Amino acid sequence: MIVLSTILGRSSAFVKPTYNPSRQSALLRMASTAAEAATKAPPKAKKIRPERVLSGVQPTGSLHLGNYLGAIRQWVDFQNKEQTDEEGNVVPFENFFCVVDLHAITMPHDPMELQESTLSSAALYLAAGIDPAKSKVFVQSHVPAHSELAWLLNCITPMNWLERMIQFKEKAKKQGESVGVGLFDYPVLMAADIMLYQSTKVPVGEDQRQHLELTRDIVRRFNDLFCKGNKYKKRCKAAGVASRPVFIEPTPIIMKEGARVMSLTDGSNKMSKSDANDSSRINVLDPPETIRNKIKRCKTDEIKGIEWDNPERPEATNLLNIYSAVQPERSKEDIIEEVKDMSWGDFKSVLADAIINHLEPIQIRYYEIREDKDRLNEILKEGSEAANAVAKQTLFNTKVAMGFVIPDEP
Ligand code: TRP
Repeated sequence: MIVLSTILGRSSAFVKPTYNPSRQSALLRMASTAAEAATKAPPKAKKIRPERVLSGVQPTGSLHLGNYLGAIRQWVDFQNKEQTDEEGNVVPFENFFCVVDLHAITMPHDPMELQESTLSSAALYLAAGIDPAKSKVFVQSHVPAHSELAWLLNCITPMNWLERMIQFKEKAKKQGESVGVGLFDYPVLMAADIMLYQSTKVPVGEDQRQHLELTRDIVRRFNDLFCKGNKYKKRCKAAGVASRPVFIEPTPIIMKEGARVMSLTDGSNKMSKSDANDSSRINVLDPPETIRNKIKRCKTDEIKGIEWDNPERPEATNLLNIYSAVQPERSKEDIIEEVKDMSWGDFKSVLADAIINHLEPIQIRYYEIREDKDRLNEILKEGSEAANAVAKQTLFNTKVAMGFVIPDEP
């Protein structure tokens, strides 16, 4: 008898305060509705649901222009732009940007390098303008719920959904026989990243569209399998959580095509960290001389004059895209007017200058941030604490839905 009441007492004590924000807000809502009715106040403006944004870049090697222009800079724009709904109300945003180190180990990796590139990626997010006051920056492996949710989702994801993934097929080809299970499972871990935060908006490059579609499929499958009917309601009630579907379908925000940066040695291939040839990319931290040399040697064509969007001239288009992206204040027309009659040599020289000018302040901020180790660690700690708080709640709800016995202590 004593034992029984102790167990009951403990479990209900656990359920109430720790994991019950929804019940609390329901009570608050009830209280405010009652107060409103009593004073006959005019109806309050519709409560706007905040949007949650989540994205990440892999910390492998050094970040290059493609990562920066195609992802990080667009996060910064997103972070700084006020978003409004159809009625003109400002929509609050909560942004989470993570360094996806667990994804980085899906290809063979060097431990020393992983450590360095995790910190340098985080510092570059900040140097590029991610503001810790507006966005949370954290390291994926600092939030254990990512790995755990990935396992739970693995068990409801059909193999053939993953077999269709183009990125896996391409990367696996390069690895031959020794291709790892982690690489196959990469998209499920990515789905877990997104789903843990109930992310509504996910800014990614075009090449990630299929992974986002998969995430939406997994969300629907999970909600269909586990979040329906009276038994689900009962499990939720017992655990003190709201009985709505656990996951939200995220909307991909596919980043601008012009921001897609191609290799300097082949204008029809994406600029990539895994290219063995460092001359194929401009790294954000390349010193001016290196940038000048890489641009001097980069691939061009035999045709006279510089031209945009001619499918026969992918290199010209790519270099113009870069030229324009590093001068965001200039219009396309203005740029083409300036360069259309230039020789390749002259164009390369103004292009190198523009890249160097654009990267210089970022590089300066980057080195300042790397110098202040304590501050960087503090920002990452704050980021992972905020991320953990959200992620733990979602993981808890997931386990309730799936029928796990929930221990007393989280
Ligand atoms: N796969 C993404 C890429 O290569 C990186 C990534 C991992 C990501 N998890 C994510 C992007 C979650 C957005 C959301 O670009």
